[in-house]
Amino acid sequence: MAAKILDGKAIAQKVRDEVREGVARFAAAHGRPPGLDVVLVSDDPASVTYTRSKEKASNEVGMRGRLLTLPATTTEGELLARVAELNADDAVDGILVQLPLPGHIREQRVLDAIAFAKDVDGLHPVNAGLLAMGRPGAIAPCTPRGCMRLLAEAGVEIAGARAVVVGRSDLVGRPMAALLLAQHATVSIAHTRTRDLRALCREADILVVAAGAPGLIRGDWIKEGAAVIDVGLTRNEAGKLVGDVDFEAARERAAWITPVPGGVGPMTIASLLETTLRAAEARVAAR
Ligand code: GUN
Repeated sequence: MAAKILDGKAIAQKVRDEVREGVARFAAAHGRPPGLDVVLVSDDPASVTYTRSKEKASNEVGMRGRLLTLPATTTEGELLARVAELNADDAVDGILVQLPLPGHIREQRVLDAIAFAKDVDGLHPVNAGLLAMGRPGAIAPCTPRGCMRLLAEAGVEIAGARAVVVGRSDLVGRPMAALLLAQHATVSIAHTRTRDLRALCREADILVVAAGAPGLIRGDWIKEGAAVIDVGLTRNEAGKLVGDVDFEAARERAAWITPVPGGVGPMTIASLLETTLRAAEARVAAR
């Protein structure tokens, strides 16, 4: 059986269209559009490109998107002062500080300083804690939310399914496991110390891989009929973007699979826009 392809580009466009409508409704009701501020403290070309595309995407759906670029020499104190300004600005609904930060800045200090109601990355301990507890109102990180939307669009049954998440990062693995658990999957989290990863993966009805290790997951590790979500995105020696799953072999066994590129990648920014709209709605509802 050749797997059906989960077309992240098409689904991301659908999400953006939904967000555009929601933004117009929000702006009509509240006299201003939702505001997203992306803070970049780096001149790394990949981060510059990535943050510019976040700014552009937010403006394209009608938000007030702004990219604040600070020099790599910015001190932790200066960055914390900018975050405090954004926290206090009522026109700002979402704050995203692009990672990684320069080595002289303590990332955790900065992420913890973002008002959690504006933490559209879902990296504040309050949001991570609410999500881990399965409580409503948590802001979950964008990439795992995008993965959940892909599964929903495919009509994959999550309740009762065996799900395996490979990777335990704050941005993907842990929140992904929490979102699957909240929808009643039986979830295992695998990582670099996991014994017999192959045997674990072969049990997975839903396999989400976010290890950043190209080719880690071989075709014969896939359970027949599984849904395979590949979050990995690495540029190989030939300059080609590749995922963590051996796509050609895996597609022979899976029922659904995401390509790389064009699977999870496009969903991340679309999910960020959706999260920002929701954060704006939640802030005005809390007044
Ligand atoms: N760097 C790469 N991906 C991300 C992300 O999703 N959020 C932040 N803040 N930084 C990143």
